[in-house]
Amino acid sequence: MSFLIAPSLLSSDFSQLKKEVQALERAGADWIHLDIMDSHFVPQLTFGPPMLKSLRVHCQLPFDVHLMVEKPDRLISPFQKAGANSISFHIESCEDPKALIQKIKSFNLKVGLSLKPNTPIEESFPFLKDLDLVLVMTVEPGAGGQTFLEHQAEKVLTLREKLNSLNYKTLIQVDGGINPDTAKKVLQADVLVSGSYILKSKDYKKSISQLKQI
Ligand code: DX5
Ligand code: ZN
Repeated sequence: MSFLIAPSLLSSDFSQLKKEVQALERAGADWIHLDIMDSHFVPQLTFGPPMLKSLRVHCQLPFDVHLMVEKPDRLISPFQKAGANSISFHIESCEDPKALIQKIKSFNLKVGLSLKPNTPIEESFPFLKDLDLVLVMTVEPGAGGQTFLEHQAEKVLTLREKLNSLNYKTLIQVDGGINPDTAKKVLQADVLVSGSYILKSKDYKKSISQLKQI
């Protein structure tokens, strides 16, 4: 079984976003990963629902929204209306993850819980039953092009064992510093997010298929 590949638009040419999503779709991407940063939860500021809405008509792939924001509950409805298919939020950004999970599901969206590198994977365990995916960060959230944090790979293994023991189909998504070498360290994952490796390559099709073949 090969990984699903979710290229992150964070490393794309922002002046050519329509062309970028079309090229990624032609190149065999499975999902489009959209990194939403608010300049509070992380220092950087990226884009919001209107941009997603503009791209929605140019691409059939699922739009996978990764919220790196404070007060994520305020953005669920706007992103659903703009055409998101899944929304992941950070456990560190939210006082009542259970309620937010239910809210996202009530909008008929897939729901993911994301964990920063310093957050133990066990903190996701009480919520696994209701989650479609767990997003394990293998860099500090906030920027593309960082180096994969090796010790995070262990969290993926622990999560896989837990999901197997419960017989849950929750997907494991890994995000940060993914390339063909680091992907080999997270073989128990289902979905690889990759920004700079794919988007800074000359041949998206080749780099996506390299990641799928691992
Ligand atoms: C980081 C983002 C990532 C980022 C990955 O905060 O969540 O999705 O775009 O980029 P690379 O693959 O370059 O680490
Ligand atoms: Zn991301």
